[in-house]
Amino acid sequence: MDKIMMVCLGNICRSPMAEGILRSKLGDRAVIESAGTGGWHVGEQPDRRAQACMKGHGIDISGLRGRQFSQRDFDEFDRIFVMDESNYRDVLNMSRSSEDEEKVEMLLELTHPGQKLSVPDPYYGGKGGFEEVYNLIDEACERISKQYN
Ligand code: 4NP
Repeated sequence: MDKIMMVCLGNICRSPMAEGILRSKLGDRAVIESAGTGGWHVGEQPDRRAQACMKGHGIDISGLRGRQFSQRDFDEFDRIFVMDESNYRDVLNMSRSSEDEEKVEMLLELTHPGQKLSVPDPYYGGKGGFEEVYNLIDEACERISKQYN
């Protein structure tokens, strides 16, 4: 069974949302986790605004806890989806081989190929930012789920 890792900066907004959304689509067809490139929010619940947005879409992510991406994750996961270009650089900087590198993809390449489009960081914005993030991630996760039919 594939193991899929979702990565953002803090692991309290975008990547836990992506984890929850993809889990809701894939059920037990894959193992899905998330992590942040930064370590500030290790052990914390997702941001309240992320939890509220997800709850509005019927998905409970209150049980998730922040953790930091580590080099060992390249061994454990088959696919590593990053939310933005700085996550992409940070994760690639930790890679040890071309095999590691090939696991890393920008999430929105699935829906906007060739555009290097980022899922915007909603942390410093308003509530509306979370809905935009939800929609972008949902569309990309729909594409992933079709690969596991
Ligand atoms: P995320 O958002 O990367 O989508 O989880 C952020 C959360 C926290 C911080 C930055 C981005 N922070 O600087 O604490």
